Amino acid sequence: MTTVHGLEEELAAEIAEVAQDCRLTLDEPPRVASAGVYVRGPWALCLAMNFGLRCASRILCEVIEADARSLDDVYAQVERLNWPSFFRIDKTFMVTASSSDNFIKAPALTLKIKDAIVDSFRRQTRERPSVEKDAPQVRVMARYHRGQISVSLDTTGIPLSARGYRVASHDAPLGELLAAGLVRMTGWSRLCRELRQEKPQKVFFSRVSESAKEGRKIPTQITLTPELIDPMCGTGTFAIEAALQLLNRHPQLERKHFAYEWLEIVPQHTLKQVEYIRRTLRAQEISLLDAFSKISFYKTHALGQSQRPDSVAPPLLCRDKDVTAIAAARRNAEAAGVSKLIYFEKGDLSQLTTTHDSGLLVMNPPYGVRLGEEEALKSFYKLIGDTLKKNCRGWQAWVLAGNETLAGQVGLRATRRKKIFNGGLECLWLQYVLF
Ligand SMILES: C[S@@+](CC[C@H](N)C(=O)[O-])C[C@H]1O[C@@H](n2cnc3c(N)ncnc32)[C@H](O)[C@@H]1O
Repeated sequence: MTTVHGLEEELAAEIAEVAQDCRLTLDEPPRVASAGVYVRGPWALCLAMNFGLRCASRILCEVIEADARSLDDVYAQVERLNWPSFFRIDKTFMVTASSSDNFIKAPALTLKIKDAIVDSFRRQTRERPSVEKDAPQVRVMARYHRGQISVSLDTTGIPLSARGYRVASHDAPLGELLAAGLVRMTGWSRLCRELRQEKPQKVFFSRVSESAKEGRKIPTQITLTPELIDPMCGTGTFAIEAALQLLNRHPQLERKHFAYEWLEIVPQHTLKQVEYIRRTLRAQEISLLDAFSKISFYKTHALGQSQRPDSVAPPLLCRDKDVTAIAAARRNAEAAGVSKLIYFEKGDLSQLTTTHDSGLLVMNPPYGVRLGEEEALKSFYKLIGDTLKKNCRGWQAWVLAGNETLAGQVGLRATRRKKIFNGGLECLWLQYVLF
């Protein structure tokens, strides 16, 4: 499974959840790697992961993991496999390879693997399959790292990060996969999982470090409440992904085609299970109406709150200072089928106030990667810190900061920090407990 650097642990946890939801057993616990997770399990799990994972980009089936000292070694490892048993000769294919080795460069590696696959077909069938660079049916992915070659077949096709709801765009939108993973990290998905229980119990964010700074102690447990605000929502990705988690909608459940359909390696009896797996996952989703009643139950019974007149208000709030961003967020939420769970509002961050005692704030402020922008942004990051401190007591806030310098301008002590890669940029996902 491939993912974004920094989301590996979330993906591993999500894989275990999807397996549990489909009553499938993993052969061993998921193993975390760099920008990926390794899993051993039944083929049905491969299909379920394609339909249900939010934090994965592709589900790959590894066919080679071996030592290789040279390109000739790579060729030998690839050629000796029975490629006609992996995909049929009438399928088009393409090899994508990466290498971290100075002597074995990616283009030469790609070519060598392609030749080895073609030669393997020729040896066994006297025919050769066609290479297609734009829209291949079969994608072979390879990685050369520290003298090891890994070759996999892609079972996904169009990456799982493309959810299909982004019909309107705005400044620098976050990737859907990344937004889903960041929201998961806040504890929101654990809360959503509990809300789906018959009688949801109070959910806490795992303990945070204690600090006696300023003579006060940061609470060691935070109760999670079903309120989430993105005060600079742009296209609304955080709120939409949070809403999809609330409904337990599986992002690719309705998708028509996946690359595994072109692979002979997937057993026929597994392909016959597709509808059963889909039905099983669909049965775990909840309706909008259910979501509202679960939230109401949680607030009344788990949190002991008295019913407020606004108890049926949308649990999510999208705000932005720019009306075009709000319009884009609304259109995207409608396309995702979750707009009824979100309230949309134009407003500047400095005017943000919270109407509940606690909740979750998630935000992705501008980064300023261009020269000169960072200086102007420093005061904005300071405004973020001041607003959180002044107007959001009792809440926990998570900020995706562009770098250490900008993070430092927030002026609050982060209770958690996680390095995350956003489109090649190393960012920080910072938690602030506002007390
Ligand atoms: C990097 S974009 C957020 C992208 C968003 N996460 C998405 O997925 O589309 C930053 C957003 O912050 C908004 N913004 C900038 N300054 C703001 C302010 N003072 N108050 C509220 N929003 C602001 C911008 O309009 C922009 O939509």
